Amino acid sequence: MNINIDSAYLQMAYSLAEKALGWASPNPYVGAVIVNKDQIVGYGYHESPGKPHAEAVALKMAGKRAKGGTAYITLEPCVHFGRTPPCVDSLIFSKIERTVISSLDPNPIVNKKGLKKLRQAGINVSIGLLESRNNRLNEAYFKYITQNIPFLTAKTATTQDGKIATNTMSSKWISSSSTREYVHLLRGEHDAILVGINTIIRDDPILTIRHPNWEGKRLTRVILDSHLRFPLNSKIFQTLSDGNILIFCHESAPDDRSKLLEDHGARVIRCSGNAAGLDLIQVLQELGANEISSVLVEGGSRLMTSFLEKKLIDKMYITISPKLIGGKEAPTFFEGEGISVLRDSLRLKKVRSFTIDEDIIVEGYF
Ligand SMILES: NC(=O)c1ccc[n+]([C@@H]2O[C@H](COP(=O)([O-])OP(=O)(O)OC[C@H]3O[C@@H](n4cnc5c(N)ncnc54)[C@H](OP(=O)(O)O)[C@@H]3O)[C@@H](O)[C@H]2O)c1
Ligand SMILES: [Zn+2]
Repeated sequence: MNINIDSAYLQMAYSLAEKALGWASPNPYVGAVIVNKDQIVGYGYHESPGKPHAEAVALKMAGKRAKGGTAYITLEPCVHFGRTPPCVDSLIFSKIERTVISSLDPNPIVNKKGLKKLRQAGINVSIGLLESRNNRLNEAYFKYITQNIPFLTAKTATTQDGKIATNTMSSKWISSSSTREYVHLLRGEHDAILVGINTIIRDDPILTIRHPNWEGKRLTRVILDSHLRFPLNSKIFQTLSDGNILIFCHESAPDDRSKLLEDHGARVIRCSGNAAGLDLIQVLQELGANEISSVLVEGGSRLMTSFLEKKLIDKMYITISPKLIGGKEAPTFFEGEGISVLRDSLRLKKVRSFTIDEDIIVEGYF
């Protein structure tokens, strides 16, 4: 056993896992490499739900050459029958001698059971190498599988003075075209995009992914609209083939409106709420129940403020463009009451920043 060799093969398995980014949800991103006598005899990754797991792809490629080999796997192998048979059984059956697993699967039906079963079969198991890479790659899956609600990433485009629109609510365009292209890349990594109804009414966005890297990817568009003010002539209805439209409204919203919107191709889901808006926890639970594991929250100001005040956002991207707008009426992305003492401020951690053209992109976690 050589830690450098082990991490090199595991890095390779991670590179494979990353190929499924944006496609495997609500399943995790997993890669596997099988090595026998210093030769790579099999490799694979889990492409999408219903397709074989990474280990199964790699074992199939290895065939008889798996016997006596080492399996490098980015996530603990499964022990349960899902859409495919348990990978632990396949590893045992193939007579793998050793497994190097990067991270435990937090899924309660797998967690530590995969390791236990491998060890019981006499297979040497090591766990934890390069684990931090998984914490990042599978951040959405880890939250979704343990809490049954999606991982929430907020994205907002601001000026240097923190505005997300002018005093006439115009926001096209605050950021540069390259930054907007980057946002399309980000959208593709998510299952859904979420906005408040005012953004639909004011901007009439189609909320699709327009980037060659994501051809064929469908993104669910989620809109919070308590009273079903959604205009029936919104452009988004012309893009039904790009992804579902989910409209959340209040239980008391008029039936005839919801019927009209459903006739236009949207799905309307009712939930409770009050004057401040719909119950966000209920919205998230409903999204989780619909196998949406990651959501990009794109605003506007009222919606973002609600999510931030309730401390529901996990990760944030703020794009800052070198423009000044000014004006008390021009919105920022975090309004509401505000905090009184600095120690109560929301604080981003693990902050990273980079530039695209003249824009600064700040990424951080709550
Ligand atoms: N620069 C950027 O990144 C960016 C991004 C997006 C939008 N914008 C700009 O932002 C402006 C719109 O922002 P906005 O603040 O007026 O509206 P918004 O956040 O788009 O929509 C807010 C509306 O959503 C509904 N809603 C339902 N449940 C809610 C809840 N729990 N919390 C908050 N809202 C809830 C409410 O209407 P009901 O009570 O009728 O349900 C609320 O008035 C637009 O001008 C747009 O251009 C900028
Ligand atoms: Zn499996």
